[in-house]
Amino acid sequence: MSKKPPRYIWVPLIIALISVPAGFIYVNWNKGGEGAGLYSRQWLPEAIFAYWNPKEFYQSVDTVVGEFSGEQCIECHSALTPGIVNDWKKSLHSQLSEKVFCNDCHGSNHEQLHMPTPDVCGSCHTTQHEQFQDEKRFGFPSHALAMERALDAKHFVDKPKAEVTACLQCHSVATKCDSCHTRHKFSAAEARRPEACLTCHSGPPHPDDETYFHSKHGQLYLAEGETWDWSKPLRKGNYPAPTCAYCHMDEGKHQVANKSIWKFGIKQINPLTSGNEIKRKQWINLCSDCHEADWSEDRLKEMDKERKRAWNKLYLAEKILKELRADNYLYPLAKERPPYPTDSAKDLMQYERIGFFEGQASAFYNTSAIERDYFEMWYFENLAAYKGSAHGDPSFIIKGHDAMDKSLEKIKRKAEKLHTLGEDEKDKGRRENPEKLWFNGEYTEYNREHN
Ligand code: HEC
Ligand code: HEC
Ligand code: HEC
Ligand code: HEC
Ligand code: HEC
Ligand code: HEC
Ligand code: HEC
Ligand code: HEC
Repeated sequence: MSKKPPRYIWVPLIIALISVPAGFIYVNWNKGGEGAGLYSRQWLPEAIFAYWNPKEFYQSVDTVVGEFSGEQCIECHSALTPGIVNDWKKSLHSQLSEKVFCNDCHGSNHEQLHMPTPDVCGSCHTTQHEQFQDEKRFGFPSHALAMERALDAKHFVDKPKAEVTACLQCHSVATKCDSCHTRHKFSAAEARRPEACLTCHSGPPHPDDETYFHSKHGQLYLAEGETWDWSKPLRKGNYPAPTCAYCHMDEGKHQVANKSIWKFGIKQINPLTSGNEIKRKQWINLCSDCHEADWSEDRLKEMDKERKRAWNKLYLAEKILKELRADNYLYPLAKERPPYPTDSAKDLMQYERIGFFEGQASAFYNTSAIERDYFEMWYFENLAAYKGSAHGDPSFIIKGHDAMDKSLEKIKRKAEKLHTLGEDEKDKGRRENPEKLWFNGEYTEYNREHN
């Protein structure tokens, strides 16, 4: 005879039955605000977001009434927005026997216009659209998930709107198709050039522009690019040296995430997993359009070695910070700093987050000096060295590692000082708590009110 299970095992089950749906309901509730994403209730959209994220925010003008044919759109807009009409006239869309008119992308009813999302382009360009959507399989980062990634990042809500509006300009690569072939020429030739990527792939955490232009490939592009025939697709034999899209969208695939091993570079990964070996083969295959396979494999191995060295340095720095935290010697402590506007002052989650897995993106601001030193080392110096080795730019590898070495020294020195000061204060009794001064600081208050 089987025994009845003891009653208490039902308790966690019932709790789970209630809390799982409650969790879902809570997340959905959070997404129901005037903004978008996880923190949608904590910010209001700017006017420009209607264009960067049209599905969420675009509403048609209602100043012009009527339904128009394509020809009529062109006629009126030739006077109103001649630049747009001229670009359209230069585009392949206007030269087809069945022209793609303004209304094919924006609608015919002028009171119910829309800004075309990838779905609209995808209704004719299924291949590119499907490849683009397929990126989602590979997780973050990817173009298809970029908008979601930015909206759900805590620092998007925590910082003043004027500082973070631009996040969505770059991350709009997910929500519209005119990032690389700009409107209204929609030229494939334009998208093949490295310039197509650079509005977004530049700046200290992702210096793809500088590292590419320093590399032999970039130098060849600068020296000879003008003479290359950009009307040719990105295929073996068509280009003497590769551009961004040649390597990352090989064969014209609208997919930038399928080969990515080290991804953004902000966490250590094991480059030798079976999944990553498949990606490596794809890379070698690509380099082999122009180089020898073994030679190319060696170049990729050198990148892995460089990465290993970088992470040794980063983990040393993390260890020092974690020891300080264990001793309560970080200063000011998380509880002594202004909280994020999205946290409550007494939030249990308010602790010093060190390293990728604890969510160190919080160290963008509101942080102690030594944690910020680590942040710079991790987010800027490390990522510069990474892109140097990924793109074949020796100068960025040397500069990045040199800067990391200096940061590590600085962190060691500061840690010693904090340790001595901490011991000293321990001897003298409790250290004074500047908590109250900070909690309602000007910056924090301003953000609470203006987000
Ligand atoms: C009689 C002139 C006229 C015709 C015909 C016309 N438009 Fe417009 N369109 C305008 C004017 C004026 C504006 C600016 C409206 C405003 O800013 O309130 C405009 C604005 C737009 C915008 C920008 C809306 C925004 O929110 O930024 C789009 C897109 C547009 N038109 C598309 C079309 C399409 C597609 C057609 C054909 C179906 C068309 N237009 C036909 C006059 C016209
Ligand atoms: C192949 C699709 C396509 C066609 C055809 C097209 N557009 Fe657009 N249009 C776009 C896209 C994509 C955007 C950018 C959407 C966004 O920012 O969310 C845009 C934006 C606009 C805007 C607002 C942004 C700006 O730059 O001012 C206007 C106005 C506009 N289009 C007018 C027109 C007119 C007029 C025509 C016909 C000559 C036309 N469009 C044809 C795809 C198209
Ligand atoms: C009504 C159908 C239709 C829509 C909607 C449409 N296109 Fe096209 N597009 C075409 C056709 C047809 C061609 C020519 C054949 C081809 O390249 O597939 C073309 C060509 C292109 C090209 C190649 C141009 C070149 O220089 O070789 C690009 C890029 C492009 N479209 C982008 C877009 C984008 C981005 C959108 C959405 C904003 C869009 N298209 C919406 C039908 C459409
Ligand atoms: C409008 C801005 C924009 C443009 C233009 C753009 N990208 Fe991106 N790209 C992004 C953003 C934003 C991300 C990060 C997305 C995320 O956070 O998930 C990204 C991510 C990537 C990644 C990382 C994928 C991974 O799995 O690690 C690659 C590779 C990439 N882009 C290549 C390119 C290339 C090549 C071009 C030009 C042909 C280009 N991008 C043009 C904004 C852009
Ligand atoms: C200049 C364009 C640009 C701006 C502005 C920008 N980003 Fe990004 N962001 C990128 C690119 C490009 C990547 C991917 C780089 C790579 O993979 O090397 C990225 C990556 C990210 C990632 C990491 C993706 C991952 O999964 O690892 C997050 C999160 C992010 N951005 C959020 C934001 C937020 C929030 C802001 C505003 C404070 C912002 N970004 C501003 C271009 C930009
Ligand atoms: C990251 C940059 C980037 C983005 C974003 C992008 N494209 Fe492209 N697109 C390219 C490049 C590069 C080419 C040229 C490919 C080649 O040479 O084979 C291209 C070519 C095309 C072509 C012409 C294909 C051909 O064989 O002639 C179409 C159609 C197209 N893209 C549609 C889209 C659509 C639809 C979207 C949105 C889902 C989109 N693109 C988003 C970079 C991009
Ligand atoms: C010779 C081929 C090549 C060229 C050209 C190239 N890249 Fe890369 N890129 C790589 C390799 C290899 C990596 C490291 C890939 C990995 O770890 O899987 C990388 C990494 C990246 C990453 C990080 C995400 C990832 O896929 O790992 C981004 C973003 C990126 N490159 C963007 C660009 C941009 C933008 C340009 C042009 C300015 C460019 N690349 C030019 C080969 C290239
Ligand atoms: C479309 C052709 C093409 C592709 C694809 C290509 N390269 Fe190159 N690469 C060149 C050319 C041309 C040079 C200049 C040759 C020289 O330096 O004599 C070069 C030079 C280099 C150099 C500098 C070599 C030196 O001796 O200084 C490195 C490193 C390099 N490539 C790595 C790669 C890697 C890694 C890949 C794949 C991720 C790759 N390349 C893909 C064409 C290509």
